[in-house]
Amino acid sequence: MLALALLLATAVNVRAQAAAEYRPHTMQPELWPKQAVRAAHGMVVTDEQLGSQAGVEILKRGGNAVDAAAAVAFALAVVEPSAGNIGGGGFMLVRLADGRTNFLDYREVAPGKATRNMYIGADGKLIPNDNVTGSVIGYQSVAVPGTVAGLELALKTYGTMKLADVMAPAIRLAKTGFPVSEKLAHQLDEEKTGLGRFPVSKRIFLNDGKMLHAGDMLRQPELAATLQRIAKNGAAEFYQGATARVMVDDIIHNGGIITLDDLAQYQPKVREALHAQYQTGDRDGTAHTWEVFTSPPPSSGGVAIIEALNILETVPLKGWDDVESVHMVAETMRRVFADRAAYLADPDFSTVPVAGLTAPCYAKELQATIDPQHASSSKTVKAGIPHPCGATSATAPRSGAITLNDGPHTTHFSIVDSAGNAVASTYTLNGSYGSHVTSPAGFLLNDEMDDFTTQPGVPNALFGLIQSDANAIAPGHRPLSSMSPTMLLRDGKLSLVTGSPGGPTIISATLLSVINWMRLGMDAQAAINSPRFHHQWLPDQILMEQNFPEAIEKQLQARGFATKRRDHIGLVNAIGIDPKSGERLGAADPRDNGAAVGY
Ligand code: DON
Repeated sequence: MLALALLLATAVNVRAQAAAEYRPHTMQPELWPKQAVRAAHGMVVTDEQLGSQAGVEILKRGGNAVDAAAAVAFALAVVEPSAGNIGGGGFMLVRLADGRTNFLDYREVAPGKATRNMYIGADGKLIPNDNVTGSVIGYQSVAVPGTVAGLELALKTYGTMKLADVMAPAIRLAKTGFPVSEKLAHQLDEEKTGLGRFPVSKRIFLNDGKMLHAGDMLRQPELAATLQRIAKNGAAEFYQGATARVMVDDIIHNGGIITLDDLAQYQPKVREALHAQYQTGDRDGTAHTWEVFTSPPPSSGGVAIIEALNILETVPLKGWDDVESVHMVAETMRRVFADRAAYLADPDFSTVPVAGLTAPCYAKELQATIDPQHASSSKTVKAGIPHPCGATSATAPRSGAITLNDGPHTTHFSIVDSAGNAVASTYTLNGSYGSHVTSPAGFLLNDEMDDFTTQPGVPNALFGLIQSDANAIAPGHRPLSSMSPTMLLRDGKLSLVTGSPGGPTIISATLLSVINWMRLGMDAQAAINSPRFHHQWLPDQILMEQNFPEAIEKQLQARGFATKRRDHIGLVNAIGIDPKSGERLGAADPRDNGAAVGY
């Protein structure tokens, strides 16, 4: 038995090294690849083999990382329908080899007819999720999609190829079809109740009720036709053309509120990435300067990650089999999440105290509130009073709280090309298969409205989040996100490209990948395989993956922490750069068959 396991493990490693091959599934760490996929030129890491291949196809044809990112995003909209999308939204962090770094925000926005209390019924309670009126399932859960506009903007600003060229792999996959994987067949089976409520979803994704099985071909002719029209006419097709009309007719006919005007008015934005700097020393005493580039609001993730790294900057961290290290990181997460709940929202409509939240002196004050021996309580730890160094803040903490639910699915991919341009992108439909509504134009629509504060003081439906009033529903506002595409530079050179899905756990999974790489010096694959944990202030507990050391859990409990096990936390698809050889180290998350493909 042991011999067989070893044989299997070796086979897996060999395959991982060969790049671009299927990796056996999930929470059996003993079968996970131990080494990242190495490549000299370009690397694409996504949740799906076919998605990663689409990116590499474009890189090999001379495209840069942004060309490949657009190709991947369109391809995942075909092969990863749970999260890959054109009916949702997302973020893309771009760093070009010449140092230009920017953040593209194509988060969905609330439609013009959306109202603050639209999900609250006459009884004062959140409306249950029927086919029309809830915030998670059905037509009114849909926010105005941003992905197509964002990808076009990315391509025009930083790409080198035409939309039609980068969309070719996606169109091919939609038209000729692709074999349904076991993962997809399983997901579709799990989602059959939700998808079965909507005729187009049922026809396409449930094979009209006969279901799709592993190995069946999934062809999506309506999606192929829509992608072809977008390839020909650009994003205007999606926002003002035949696609817009088909989408809106269906939405309005079925009780939704998105109008042609909403689509026509949608604007993606280029924002400045958040930036922070840290120093570390190697074991041999060599000092390194690290720069972190990450996501600004309307993501809460980048602020949280920098705030956490600041708090932890002077804390010795040894690893996750060391109770002191886990203790300090968990207490840090608690404080950062308390601030998230109170302060983060759409920066175009609220004043978010980003400078204060990410200021080193504020972090020092928060660090001083941590008892390194005993767990603190979220009853007493509240949002702090952030302020830039040298200033005290008059901002009173807003009230708010946050809890969590299991919530697949969103998807993160990382790309580095041969010139050293890099993309980290996380995009989403929010819940797995979003609203579960498929437009007659062949694509699933998001349920991003649930990321707003659907009812102040009451958990929203999907993630059980209680958030601040600043994140209330209002026309044109972007709902607060946790998506955190992030990059690190070491001594001025690109070093890590990372990010994750997972609702609020995105922040912890991404943060841990950064700590593992920057602070703990782990190899790329080890940084991804390493067991994860998460604390988000409320509920007051440390969530830990099944493979987290039991002895540490017991020691944490003895210090007063409540703990809870969860199958997995996040799916981090990252790329490290070998500082010596410059090789790209593709580290796909084996928790869900991620695929690193390089050349
Ligand atoms: O933007 C956000 O934070 C959420 N809509 C992400 C949802 C998510 O990650 C679900 N996936 N696991």
